[in-house]
Amino acid sequence: MSLVPELAILVEKRYLDAQHSLFRFVFNDEDRRKAFSFKPGQFVMLSIFGVGEAPISITSGPDEKGFIDLCVRKAGRVTGVLHELEENARVGIRGPYGNGYPVETMEGGNLLIVAGGLGIAPLRSLIRYVLFRRERFGEVGIGYGARDPESVLFYGEMQNLLERTDINCMLSVDSVPENSRWQGQVGRVTQLLDKITMPLEGTSVAVCGPPVFYKFVLDKLLKLGYSKGSIYMSLERRMECGLGKCGHCVVGHKYTCIDGPIFTYWDAINLPEIF
Ligand SMILES: Cc1cc2nc3c(=O)[nH]c(=O)nc-3n(C[C@H](O)[C@H](O)[C@H](O)COP(=O)(O)OP(=O)(O)OC[C@H]3O[C@@H](n4cnc5c(N)ncnc54)[C@H](O)[C@@H]3O)c2cc1C
Ligand code: FES
Repeated sequence: MSLVPELAILVEKRYLDAQHSLFRFVFNDEDRRKAFSFKPGQFVMLSIFGVGEAPISITSGPDEKGFIDLCVRKAGRVTGVLHELEENARVGIRGPYGNGYPVETMEGGNLLIVAGGLGIAPLRSLIRYVLFRRERFGEVGIGYGARDPESVLFYGEMQNLLERTDINCMLSVDSVPENSRWQGQVGRVTQLLDKITMPLEGTSVAVCGPPVFYKFVLDKLLKLGYSKGSIYMSLERRMECGLGKCGHCVVGHKYTCIDGPIFTYWDAINLPEIF
């Protein structure tokens, strides 16, 4: 696969909060636009010309054709400049890379999705995949935790999910500032897991969030009785090539860019310094 990025145009930029925005890109080449396909959990390498590249998860659903949505936090050089770009700006995109969630294995069973903060980005793609073929899944539960009401990403979409009767969706914030009009749940995402009751047998769990979130959520899931092999987590490592050539993302004997970024907890726990 080529390391040369393909030209893409920023067609829409949606402010989510002070640190995050949703960026919609289309490939300049129409054939590429039509042919691009990916699995939930895969990522692209996004280039800002003259600045650098960054790996970013695709947050749109694989059934949404013609564009790629990326939800990006302003973190440093590349993402900082990205947030300054105006619509019609040109960027480079290569990929998709990584293994993605094993959706074929998940289909036919129940699915519990647990997100913390920006961890919703790759999981939003998985949620969209599930909604498009809801009948192929058994029970579906979603738990999403954010720091405070201002930090809930995709609030409108979460409201729609909360209203659905075919999905057990719960949203919670860690704390609420004084005078807030927040009427939802307050507490850690681990507390939601006590309320979303799913059978242990036949349930896959997809988890994504910051390191501290993993520490508590994985512990909680094991206490609830889920097996390490049924829990899928996404590992973030510094990446350069994204396709198994440079060695920047190696953890133990695994390349995060091609063996991951999605690993079962069973596989991840045997890797050094995963958190
Ligand atoms: C598979 C994958 C998927 C991702 N998906 C998303 C996503 O959907 N949305 C999103 O916003 N982000 C995502 N990220 C994270 C994103 O790639 C990084 O935030 C991005 O690379 C930052 O690039 P930058 O040039 O803006 O920041 P940089 O300038 O590289 O700095 C980013 C941060 O890293 C620190 N840093 C810089 N160099 C090093 C170094 N050598 N070692 C350790 N720390 C260093 C900086 O101090 C800063 O805090 C993903 C990462 C991976 C691996
Ligand atoms: S990023 Fe180069 S080998 Fe993984």
